[in-house]
Amino acid sequence: MNKLPGWALPNLKEAQIRTRQEVSIEKNLFAVPAEMRQMGNGKHYYLRTYGCQANERDGETIAGILEKIGFTQCFTPEEADFILLNTCAVRKNAEDKVLGELGALKRLKKTNPDLVFGMCGCMAQEEEIVRILLEKYPHVDLIFGTHNIHRLPVLLYQAMMDKEKTVEVFSKEGEVIENLPVKRFGQHKAWVNIMYGCDKFCTYCIVPYTRGKERSRAMDDILNEIRDLQKEGFQEVTLLGQNVNSYGKDLHLEGGFAKLLEETAKLGIARIRFTTSHPWDFSDDMIDVIARYENIMPFIHLPVQSGDSDMLKIMGRRYTIEQYKELFDKITAKVKGCAFSTDIIVGFPNETEEQFQHTLDIVDYCKFDNAFTFIYSPREGTPAAAMEDNVPMHVKQERLARLNERVNAYAHERNEAYMGKTVRVLIDGPSKKNKDVYCGYTETNKLVNFSLKQGDVGDIVNVRITDIKTWSLNGEQV
Ligand code: SAH
Ligand code: SF4
Ligand code: F3S
Repeated sequence: MNKLPGWALPNLKEAQIRTRQEVSIEKNLFAVPAEMRQMGNGKHYYLRTYGCQANERDGETIAGILEKIGFTQCFTPEEADFILLNTCAVRKNAEDKVLGELGALKRLKKTNPDLVFGMCGCMAQEEEIVRILLEKYPHVDLIFGTHNIHRLPVLLYQAMMDKEKTVEVFSKEGEVIENLPVKRFGQHKAWVNIMYGCDKFCTYCIVPYTRGKERSRAMDDILNEIRDLQKEGFQEVTLLGQNVNSYGKDLHLEGGFAKLLEETAKLGIARIRFTTSHPWDFSDDMIDVIARYENIMPFIHLPVQSGDSDMLKIMGRRYTIEQYKELFDKITAKVKGCAFSTDIIVGFPNETEEQFQHTLDIVDYCKFDNAFTFIYSPREGTPAAAMEDNVPMHVKQERLARLNERVNAYAHERNEAYMGKTVRVLIDGPSKKNKDVYCGYTETNKLVNFSLKQGDVGDIVNVRITDIKTWSLNGEQV
């Protein structure tokens, strides 16, 4: 085979460039050269995915591609001929986990010298990380990024068959690539990408650098994918994008995300979810559509990040806390029984005690059903990473603990309202701890553990709630 020209390394400066160039929709990029079609026969791959749902969905594409070229999935690294870590770069602790895992797995090369180690995903898009990998983790044979997953057969062939260290990471705006293989990991719930990338450039966030520009899939391609999922018996789809509200803006599509949501609802699939919605461009039309269709679930992940308007401004979030509250109230008024989750960052550079108090205030105001709380983690190349920071780590940790206490109290309080009520639950399967107990989620995305009388995985059943926990409910089928 032709040797690939040298390595392509990530470049953060190039990754932040945004042009007005039209996004190209590529339908025929994926092709497997003849000599690679069976390269995986008799071989096993071990894939571990970290991070958000977009990365999970990429993992399904990676698995689809690997199985197309003959590989079989295995679930312990010891059995593998190819180990691939599909990584997340959003916070330092996410990266440390991956580097720890990479170090721990190194020993396997001793017993199996032909083993190929690969790393992909958002960490591969970072200059500093690739430098560290090349210097300190020489057992990593293959590095590729988020823009060239479709090149996996060619890249892996080079690493595995030609035994050549292979690094190919592109820092570019990106295309929309259709018709890639997919191995769905769920049987009745599926992720559906509706757009890729992000153009919001919140000052703390690495995602716009690792994922390229905001670009939407064509509506027909999305709807056709959902129709196929319905035919295969899927009950639930989650529409994915870093900010789904921006769907269609790049296509100058009239109606935008509200229109896509409505068209999806009309297909009649039992449950539709979406994530993530940025509070900045959550339109009234979207609220109306969510309220109007019963198969759009009354659950919204609405990341607030901070309760202080000055802080929100420094974070580059494009809304004030008053605007957030107004939106929250509007959704609550129109979408009956709507549940909310949020993301919150504490300890942003120079956050004052008063500003942190405002974050506690917004938690008091919204009483979120769930909140994902994080200590700010500087990301190389982002504007916030260059800010001086006068908040000591122990103060950040203490703020996080206070915040979590508050968040947990409201999560429990929200759950108390379910006591004695009957809810609709989509059955996921036996619970991890007890095989006689089944688990699933309510329309409002509450985890329910319950005794099953009738029905099977993938059915939607009525469950009466008999007990409340902070992060789950117990019940019995009625
Ligand atoms: N696109 C989504 C989420 C992306 S990352 C959105 O905008 O909501 C998920 C969450 O990680 C963010 O909402 C934020 O709360 C957190 N996060 C992102 N960058 C971070 C950083 N540098 N330090 C700490 N938390 C961060
Ligand atoms: Fe990051 Fe902000 Fe984009 Fe979300 S909207 S991915 S927090 S830059
Ligand atoms: Fe992590 Fe990349 Fe998702 S940084 S949160 S895997 S977009």
